Amino acid sequence: MLEVKDIHTYYGDSHVLQGVSLEVNRGEVVCLLGRNGAGKSTTMKSIMGLVPPRRGHIFFMGEETTGLPPYRMVKRGMAYVPEDRRVFPHLTVEENLEVAHIAARREGRWTVKGILEVFPMLERLRHRKGGHLSGGEQQLLVIARALLANPTMLLLDEPCEGLAPIIVEELEKVILEIRREVTILLAEQNAPFALRVSHRGYVIEKGRIKFQGTREELLANEEVQSRYLAL
Ligand SMILES: Nc1ncnc2c1ncn2[C@@H]1O[C@H](COP(=O)(O)OP(=O)(O)OP(=O)(O)O)[C@@H](O)[C@H]1O
Ligand SMILES: [Mg+2]
Repeated sequence: MLEVKDIHTYYGDSHVLQGVSLEVNRGEVVCLLGRNGAGKSTTMKSIMGLVPPRRGHIFFMGEETTGLPPYRMVKRGMAYVPEDRRVFPHLTVEENLEVAHIAARREGRWTVKGILEVFPMLERLRHRKGGHLSGGEQQLLVIARALLANPTMLLLDEPCEGLAPIIVEELEKVILEIRREVTILLAEQNAPFALRVSHRGYVIEKGRIKFQGTREELLANEEVQSRYLAL
């Protein structure tokens, strides 16, 4: 479904991604593991067209999409949840979801009612204003909102960051539930979480892929164990 081939991405003169290649097949959850500054977000921004790669190619659903602007990626069915969560603070949870659903204009599986069934925590908070939610609740809302665009594929950038264990648990349930409907690329530093929900993964370091494997291979790899799983 997604093929990233040897991309090189820069911020000005700074050569951040130095030949990143990865693939995500339909129905998979694939994680991109790496420490601070490894290049996870830049990989996602390159795919989404926010920071187009200077070299290399990106294919989505069999067509080359390298350098397409974000709104064209959205139209093609790509959704992106960035690290910084932004909800509409003056709208309630339900209104935040309704706005997203109307804006998306892509027909499909997800409706506001359906999404609230997958996110029981949001269902309970449906009348609360976005600005009055905790960080974790906002994160759930942002993911729910992204799903209302009925994407074919979802890019999730460090959804666990700064979340309380109970919200991480809820998030884990949500991902295991939605992964039947949507293909996911998940950037994470929290390897134990990522490997609980992913089928496969890549390890990125200094803008290069250092290791790739199935969930089992990553769990068994000594270097991955000591560098990413020994928290
Ligand atoms: N807008 C920018 N301008 C210049 N350099 C940037 C910019 N954004 C990121 N970088 C640099 O690019 C490198 C990769 O950053 P990136 O945000 O992709 O890492 P990351 O793996 O997502 O890290 P984190 O886990 O901290 O989010 C880092 O060295 C970072 O300092
Ligand atoms: Mg990042």
